[in-house]
Amino acid sequence: MNYRKIIFALIAITTISSNVYSQKTIQNVFDREAISLNGSWNYIIDPYQMGYLDYRQKPFDESKSGKGGFYDNLHNVSKETKVEYDFSNEPTLDVPGDWNSQDQRLLFYEGTLWYKKDFVVKPTTDKNYILYFAAVNYECHVYLNGKKLGTHKGGFTPFQFDVTSKLNDGENFVVVMVDNTRKKDEVPTINTDWWNYGGITRDVLLVSTPKEYINDYKVQLAKDNKKVIEGFVKVKGINTSQDVVVEIPELKIKTTFKTDNQGLVKFNIPVKKLTYWSPNSPKLYDVKITSKLDEVEDKIGFRTIQTVDKNILLNGKSIFLKGISIHDENPLLGGRLRSDADMRMLLTWAKELGCNYVRLAHYTHNERMVQLADEMGLLVWAEVPVYWTISWTNAETYANAENQLAVGIERDKNRASVIIWSIGNETPVNEDRNVFMGKLVDKVRALDDTRLVAAALEIEREGYKITVEDHLGDKLDLASFNEYGGWYWSNAKELPKYSYDIKFNKPVIISEFGAGALAGFHGDDDTMWSEEHQELIYINQLEMLDKMDGLRGMTPWILVDFKSPRRQNPVFQNFWNRKGLISNTGEKKKAFFTLQEYYKKKTKQYK
Ligand code: GCU
Repeated sequence: MNYRKIIFALIAITTISSNVYSQKTIQNVFDREAISLNGSWNYIIDPYQMGYLDYRQKPFDESKSGKGGFYDNLHNVSKETKVEYDFSNEPTLDVPGDWNSQDQRLLFYEGTLWYKKDFVVKPTTDKNYILYFAAVNYECHVYLNGKKLGTHKGGFTPFQFDVTSKLNDGENFVVVMVDNTRKKDEVPTINTDWWNYGGITRDVLLVSTPKEYINDYKVQLAKDNKKVIEGFVKVKGINTSQDVVVEIPELKIKTTFKTDNQGLVKFNIPVKKLTYWSPNSPKLYDVKITSKLDEVEDKIGFRTIQTVDKNILLNGKSIFLKGISIHDENPLLGGRLRSDADMRMLLTWAKELGCNYVRLAHYTHNERMVQLADEMGLLVWAEVPVYWTISWTNAETYANAENQLAVGIERDKNRASVIIWSIGNETPVNEDRNVFMGKLVDKVRALDDTRLVAAALEIEREGYKITVEDHLGDKLDLASFNEYGGWYWSNAKELPKYSYDIKFNKPVIISEFGAGALAGFHGDDDTMWSEEHQELIYINQLEMLDKMDGLRGMTPWILVDFKSPRRQNPVFQNFWNRKGLISNTGEKKKAFFTLQEYYKKKTKQYK
C-alpha cells in the first residue's frame, strides 16, 4: 500500500481551492432589478502583473496592509506623488467584450489586464446587493473600493459576490484583474482550436433584491411525464417556513406551497392541457413565483425529451436533429458575441439553414443565447470545455470541470431548448479519462435527470470500416461522435465506400463533420479550399451518413468561419478556421445550400 500516494491524494482533495469556482448564482438574473455596469471600463495592460505582485512576486493583496496593487486606484494628486499607473488616463474597453477585437495591440495578447469602472449607488438597508459577472476569461481577481471580493476561474460561467456591506453610499469603483494565460491543468487546457479571447466578455450587473429573496427555482415537466409540472423554489435569507405562490396564468395555475425553515419547497402540479414546446411551436408560458417579499417572472416552455432504442422522442414523437455547430463569436467583429442582435444573427442563419437544433461548442454560451433558442425554437446541445487532452488525474482540474458543468446546468435548467448536456469533446480513450468523464456523467444525472447526457466520442478506422465503441458511450444516452471523412482522412470521392459499425443501441448523432473552403474561391471539386470541394464533401458525407442505421441528427462543423490561432495558411486561412458554411463576412458558401436541401428532405421524412 503506497501511503505517500494516499496522503498526497488526501492533501490534494482537501486543498482544492473551492473559492475560485462559482457557487450557485441567482437564477434568471436578467429578470432582476439591477444597475448595469456594462459600457466603457478603463484598462491597463500588465504583462508583468505589476499591479498584483511585489518585486518578490508576492501578491499585494496578501500583504499586511493588503494595499499596493492597482486595485487601490491611486492617482498622482500632487507634484510629490509618484504613482506608476493611472486608470483615469487610460483608454477604455467595452464591456461586454473581449479585449482582442477592441485594441489591435491585444489581438494575440495572453496575460494580465486590469479593468476599472466607477459607479454611483445609494444602497438602502432593506436590500441585498449582488455584483454579478456573466463571464470573464479566464482567471480574475475582483476588488470593490480597494478591497478584495474574491477570485474566479473559468471563462464561460457566471459568478457573483454579495457586496451588501461593502458598498459606499454614492461613489464606488470596481477593479478586476483578468488573466487569460493558458495553463495545462486548467479547463480548457493549453491547446484549443478557438481564439483565447480575454476579458470581461459578458454582462456585469449590480443586482438588488429584497433581504429575503427567491434565489433559485426550477419549473419543468417531470421526467418522462407530460402531465406533471415538477420543481422547487428556494427563498434565501429566511429561517422559518414561508408561503410561495407558483403562477402560470395561461394554464390557470396559481398554487401556494409552504417552504421548510431553510426556505426550500419542492412541488409538483398536475396539468391537463398544455401546448408543448417544440421547434415548430416554441410556446413559452409566463411563470410568476412570489414569496413574502419577492417575486420573479420567467418565460418557460414545457417539453419532454427521451431516447427509446435508436430514437429520440420530443414530446413522445420521433425527431431528427437538423443541426449546426456554433462558436460564441461574431465573425463580422472577429470577437465574442456582445449583444442580443449578435446572437440573433447566428441563430437566424441557423434557422435559414433549416435547423431545429444547434450545438453550442465547446463551452457554456451566453445565457441570452439559450433564452433566444427557447424563443426561436432551436433545440440545444450545451457543452463544457473538457476538450481534447486535459489533466485527467489532477483533482483540481476535475473540480474545475465539474464546477463549470454544474453552474451551466443550474443556470439553464429552466430552458426547454436545452435537451443535451455534453461533458466534453474528442477526449482520448484511456482509464484515467474514463474515470474522470464517468464522474462528470454521474454529476449531470444527479443534478438533472430530465435531459440527455452526451459527449463527442472517439472512433476507430480500419480500411473502409469505422467502428464506434468508445466505452464512455455505455454511460451516455447518445452514440455521438465527430468524423472528418474527406478532410482529415480519406478523400471526398471515397466517402460512399465507408460503413459504420456502431456498438450502441442508441440514437446516432454526428457531432461534427466538415471541410474548409475560402468563400469566393472556386475550382473543380478536387481543388482544396474551393467551395466546390467543400460542397462535394457535404454531398458525399450526407450520402454516407444517410445509410447509417440509427442516424438521428447532426451538427456539421460549423455555421460560420471562426478565428483560430492554429490556422496559419496566409492565403486560405489567415487565422480563420474556414469550415464555416458562411464566411466571416456573411457570405453563404455552396455547401450551405447542400445542407439546406438535405434538411428539407429530413423535414418531410420526420413530418
Ligand atoms: C475538431 C474540434 C473542433 C475543431 C475542428 C477542426 O474536431 O472538435 O474544435 O475546430 O475539429 O479541426 O476544424
